[in-house]
Order: sequence, then structure tokens, then C-alpha cells
Amino acid sequence: MQSIILTRPDDFHLHVRDGEAMASVIQASARQFARAIIMPNLNPPVVTVHQAIDYRERILACLPKNTSFMPLMTLFLTEQTGVSEIAMARDSDVVFAAKYYPAGATTNSENGVRSIERISPVLEALEEHGLLLLMHGEVTDPSVDIFDREKVFIDTVLLPLLERFPGLRVVFEHITTSDAADLVMHGPENLAATITPQHLLLNRNALFAGGLRPHHYCLPILKAEAHRLAIVNAATSGHPRIFLGTDSAPHARHLKESVCGCAGIYTALNAMELYADVFENEGKLDKLEAFAGHHGADFYGLPRNKDTITLIKEDWTIPESVPFGADKLVPFRAGEICHWKFQ
Ligand code: DOR
Ligand code: ZN
Repeated sequence: MQSIILTRPDDFHLHVRDGEAMASVIQASARQFARAIIMPNLNPPVVTVHQAIDYRERILACLPKNTSFMPLMTLFLTEQTGVSEIAMARDSDVVFAAKYYPAGATTNSENGVRSIERISPVLEALEEHGLLLLMHGEVTDPSVDIFDREKVFIDTVLLPLLERFPGLRVVFEHITTSDAADLVMHGPENLAATITPQHLLLNRNALFAGGLRPHHYCLPILKAEAHRLAIVNAATSGHPRIFLGTDSAPHARHLKESVCGCAGIYTALNAMELYADVFENEGKLDKLEAFAGHHGADFYGLPRNKDTITLIKEDWTIPESVPFGADKLVPFRAGEICHWKFQ
């Protein structure tokens, strides 16, 4: 039987929610990954270091005592975030980055940033204190087509920001376009990107395959095939500043299968298996370890994990749903055969 042994990976973009819902999903990530960057878009969002510390405690309390999983916390940037909060974050050993959401861009982002100019002092503080800026890279101008939001973000927000803050480490989260892939692969050393399984495996036709498919809806939205191919090339290229971030974003089944369904795809159940599928299809399994376990840690300035995981080539059926608090959660590719299995 074919098997691969990899440095234990980290997930550099993860939503675990809170309360009972979190208790249902956290174990799946803790099983596969050593560490995860925890997104702060709770309702209300995690805007202070104290809230991040409390949230981290609630995550750890959901895990068995002997677990070594480390949640790496982030702050949700608002136009009210103070520079003193960034200094506190730097000293906390708990908060590793600040997350920029354009207001209204996605789930629980209403308190996000309307004008990036207004958070200039905070960006300066991040640069000065060496904390990372994680960016949801889309604009929200309603006159911009949903499929063009990432490209317009690059031109109007990201390029000017990189020019202005050459010492700020920026992660362009969940890239979906050839424009983003080109920029990161050929761009400055302080710019990196994460890539999700769904954007590697699906193009936008999957949203409408035989009918409307709410479980394929996430933000940024799936893109055309040429863009998917570009990000597959970027992920499997071995580029040192491109790494794994699942953006696993669980929503209860009834909130996805609704007249106004929530954005987000739950991939944490079998995240490494999904990525292995992509890398295998490209004949690039040899590049999976660095993408999943080295590049992200290096960019964040964290030590690489010392232990390993094993994936075996074995077919199993992804469940139709898993418990999610009192609700149900539909995993990505529910009911389909998965060709890799985490041991
Ligand atoms: O699809 C998404 N879901 N994109 C995001 O940016 C947020 C996430 C969520 O929190 O549900
Ligand atoms: Zn996300």
C-alpha cells in the first residue's frame, strides 16, 4: 500500500467558531495539524488581546488534556483598533497576526475596515512590532463584479500598501486568481499567500453543476478554470511563500441550504487528504510536505514541527454530515470517495 510520511503540517487559516459548534469541529483540525491560525470573525469579533486570550482558553478547554495542538490567535482589525492593542499583541505570545476584512466582504465582517487609510497607524504599528497582516483580498464596491474583486483589490489596495509598508509581512489569504498567484510568486519577500483545498479542486462551474450548489459557495467565490490552474501551479511549485490555509469555515446545514445561504466550506475533516489529491494529480506529491509543513512556519518565523503524520492511499466514503452542536454540518465532498486517508 502506498503511504507518505510528512512533517506534521500547520493550518494557517482556520475558522473554528465558538461554543458547542467549536467543540464539534476542533478535534478534526487538532488531529491533523500541530498549529492553526484562528480567524477572529466571531460575532462579536475578537478585537482585543484579552478577547483573544479568552477565546484561546475556550479552544484549549475543548481539547483532551494531553493534546499538543496550538491555536495561534489573531485580532480582527476595525477602524477603532488602537496602536496600543498591537503593542500588547506583540508582548502576548498568544496573538500572531491581525486580520483585515473589508467591511461587509464576508461572514461577520460588518465591523471590518471601510477605508484602509483610516488604519494607517495600526499598519505602521504592525510593521514596527513585526506582527503579520492577514488580508481578505477583495474589494466590496458593489459596482465591481464578484469575480473581479480579487484583481481590483490587488490594484487598488494591495500594491499601494506594499509600496508604503515595505517591512510589513503580509499574507494574501485564500488566493483564487492567476493575478494573485503571479503577484505572490514574483513579488516582494514580505508577501506570502495561503491556498484552500476547494479553490484547488473546483472551478466556478461547480457552483451550478446540475443546479445551485450551496455547499460550494465560499468567499472569495470559486473562479474560472484558467485561474484554478494558475493556483494549482502556484501551490505545487515549491515556492517558499505559498502555503496551506484551509479556510475551513463550518456553517450549519440549514444555514447553507437556505434562500440566503452562508459563505464557507467545511474542509477540516479531511484537509490533508484533499490537498494530497491535488498534489498527486499534478505528479507533485514530493512538494506537499513543504507546502503544508515548512513554508508557512518559515514565513511566520515559527519553528518547523518535529513530528510527522502519515497518509495512506485507501478509499473511504466522506460522511453525508457530521454533528455540529445541535445541528448538522455537511463536509466538502460529502458522500464522495476520498482516495487518501489520514492515519
Ligand atoms: O467563505 C468564507 N467563509 N469566506 C470567508 O472569508 C469567511 C468564512 C466564514 O467565516 O464563514
Ligand atoms: Zn476565512
